[in-house]
Amino acid sequence: MPKIGDIQLPDFPLLLAPMEDVSDPPFRALCKEQGADVVYTEFISSEGLIRDAAKSVMKLDIYEKERPVGIQIFGANLESMLQSVEIVEKSGPDIIDINFGCPVKKVVSKGAGAGILKDIDLMVSLTKAMVEHTKLPITVKTRLGWDSDSIKIVEVAERLQDVGCKAISIHGRTRVQMYKGEADWRPIAEVKNNQRMHIPIFGNGDVDSPEMAMKMRDEYGLDGAMIGRASIGYPWFFKEVKHYFKTGTHAAPPTMEERVDAARRHLQMAIDWKGEQLGVFETRRHYTNYFKGIPNFKEYRMKMVTSDHSVDVFEAFDEVMEKFGDFEFVS
Ligand SMILES: Cc1cc2nc3c(=O)[nH]c(=O)nc-3n(C[C@H](O)[C@H](O)[C@H](O)COP(=O)(O)O)c2cc1C
Repeated sequence: MPKIGDIQLPDFPLLLAPMEDVSDPPFRALCKEQGADVVYTEFISSEGLIRDAAKSVMKLDIYEKERPVGIQIFGANLESMLQSVEIVEKSGPDIIDINFGCPVKKVVSKGAGAGILKDIDLMVSLTKAMVEHTKLPITVKTRLGWDSDSIKIVEVAERLQDVGCKAISIHGRTRVQMYKGEADWRPIAEVKNNQRMHIPIFGNGDVDSPEMAMKMRDEYGLDGAMIGRASIGYPWFFKEVKHYFKTGTHAAPPTMEERVDAARRHLQMAIDWKGEQLGVFETRRHYTNYFKGIPNFKEYRMKMVTSDHSVDVFEAFDEVMEKFGDFEFVS
């Protein structure tokens, strides 16, 4: 069974992917409750952290109940990355993850995120320096390569392992692909099949059903799956995958009561954590999925996603429970 450093994980663990403005403490806690084995924070700027930028620092908060949790940081400057490791350590995460995969222009143009895929030597030396700077396990999340002509992930993974990286999550797309096309898991399987590799290799990209997770495990032989979009507004995804692995059948989808309860707790945790205004605003993106598939739901969804005050959103949840409490969801 895979281990990240000393952290023992179950067979084929499911990891919650780092997602900006999504993977915050309330959402991570819900995913953990529903079976995520490791959760990651959204990416945090090393430059922001060393300037003590409030927004970056707040992203370091973790709840005890979500462990094991990895804090993900990004940057391309050695000094800033090392200083931010020291800041991150104070929050007591179980893992520090380096983002070498973010494709967005403002990150890539500074040589960070997927930008570093153009300078593999720097990627390796940054990782090495960070490994040497902390006792916490360092993991890496990256993509296949910069573009389809420069996929060297087998060699890159080996070099990262050699400098002490404890696990690698690989999104099966190149930077140039951004989120287009289908994720290609074949190069990830090549990394895993390399006889020299002994650290866990987690696959990422397009796992949106229990069948896809099973395919990643059985056909591609990877050590675990990192799950992003399929979990947004649907933390039950982790439990459903595990149920499928165990029984070969699909779990019954969550009832309306479970959905309303999760939405309520999500909003309440978000408010407790970041205050009324931000809590209300940043939880909105989850509701569409929480309540997907209900006919004539627009009025209620609109109330949830346009109300500025939590009292109105909570009221919408009560109304939904009253009106649609018996609705039967199909998986
Ligand atoms: C809204 C959103 C925000 C994301 N933010 C991050 C991030 O902060 N760090 C990171 O490494 N990847 C980030 N990603 C990429 C995901 O972690 C993941 O690699 C990608 O979504 C593919 O996995 P999926 O098909 O399971 O969603 C983000 C993706 C989405 C959709």
